[in-house]
Amino acid sequence: MKHFIDTENITRAELERLFEIAFKIENSKPEKFSNKLNGKVISTLFFEPSTRTRLSFESAVYKLGGRVISTENAGTSSSSQKCETLEDAIKVISGYADAIIIRHPDNDSSSRAASVSSVPIINAGSGSYAHPTQSLLDAFTIVKSRGVGRSVVRNTASAGGLKGQSKAIGSNNLTLDNLKICFIGDLKYGRTANSLIKLLALYSGIEVYLLAPQQMCLTDDVYALMDSKGIAYKNCKSFDCLPKDIDVLYQTRIQSERARDLKVDTKALKITKAVLDKFSQNTIVMHPLPRVDEICTDVDTDKRAVYFQQAHNGVPTRMAVLLTLLGENF
Ligand code: CP
Repeated sequence: MKHFIDTENITRAELERLFEIAFKIENSKPEKFSNKLNGKVISTLFFEPSTRTRLSFESAVYKLGGRVISTENAGTSSSSQKCETLEDAIKVISGYADAIIIRHPDNDSSSRAASVSSVPIINAGSGSYAHPTQSLLDAFTIVKSRGVGRSVVRNTASAGGLKGQSKAIGSNNLTLDNLKICFIGDLKYGRTANSLIKLLALYSGIEVYLLAPQQMCLTDDVYALMDSKGIAYKNCKSFDCLPKDIDVLYQTRIQSERARDLKVDTKALKITKAVLDKFSQNTIVMHPLPRVDEICTDVDTDKRAVYFQQAHNGVPTRMAVLLTLLGENF
C-alpha cells in the first residue's frame, strides 16, 4: 500500500491486516509502539474543519513517536490563499514531511495529491466522495461489536487493557460477512456511507437498507457498485421497514455546508430512545459525528449507542494506517 486514498481498491486481506494491527495496538503496552515512527514528520493539511479526524491522526502520530506539522485552516492560512495550486503545495510539502494527511472539499483532491507526491498521501475526507479512514474505523467498530470485539471492548474497559489478547484473534473472526446495516440521513453529500459501502463490497451476504430524504439518496455510481458486487439493498421510507434484528443503524448528519439551499424535513429520520427500542438488543447505533439533532441525547446512555467509542477507534485504526504506510518491524 503506497497511499490510502479510497476504499474501492483496498483488498480484504489488507483490510483485515489493518484490523489485526489495530487490535494489537489496543491490547499492547503503549511502549511497544511508541518509537515506531521515531524521526518521522507527518503533515496534516486540512482545508475543511475537523475535530475527530485531525486530532485522532495527530494523537496517532504522537503515540507512534512521530511529529506533526499542521495547517488546520489551510483554506485561509496556507498559500492556497495566494492561488497556489494543490499540486504545487503537495510537491513542496513532500520535501518537508514523510506523509501528508489531507482533507479537501474537492472529490479528486487526494488522487491529484497522490499523482504528484513523493510521500504517502492519506485521504482524511475528500468532498462528498470518500473518507476512507472513517470507513476503516467504522468497520473496526462493527467487527468489535460482533463476538471478538465484544470481549476485547468489555475486558479492556474493566481491566485497563489485556496483554496478549490479540493472539486469540484470528483473521477468520474479523469478518463483516452477513451484515445487515441501515444508512440514514444525507447519503448524497455525506462521504461516509458511500465509503463504507465500498468496503462492505469485499464481504458476502451484505444487506444494505437506505433511509434518506428524496433529495439526499445515494448517487448512481454507488447503486451501480452495489449492483455489480451483488450487495442486496432496499430503499426505505421509515424505520418500520427495517428488520428488527438489523445489526447497525448508521445515522448521518445533513451536510448543510455542501447543500446550503436544500431544506429537508428530517424529523422522521431522528433516532430517539423509542425508535431504538423497536430494535434488537444487539442492534448498534453508529454515527461518524459531529451530530446536530439526528440522534437524541437520551440514546447516549443506551449500551447500543457506540458512536463515541467509534470516534475513539479512530486512534488505533489510524495508527495502523500510519504503521502500514511508514512503519518498519511492527
Ligand atoms: N467524522 C469526522 O470526520 O469528524 P470530523 O469532521 O470532526 O473530523
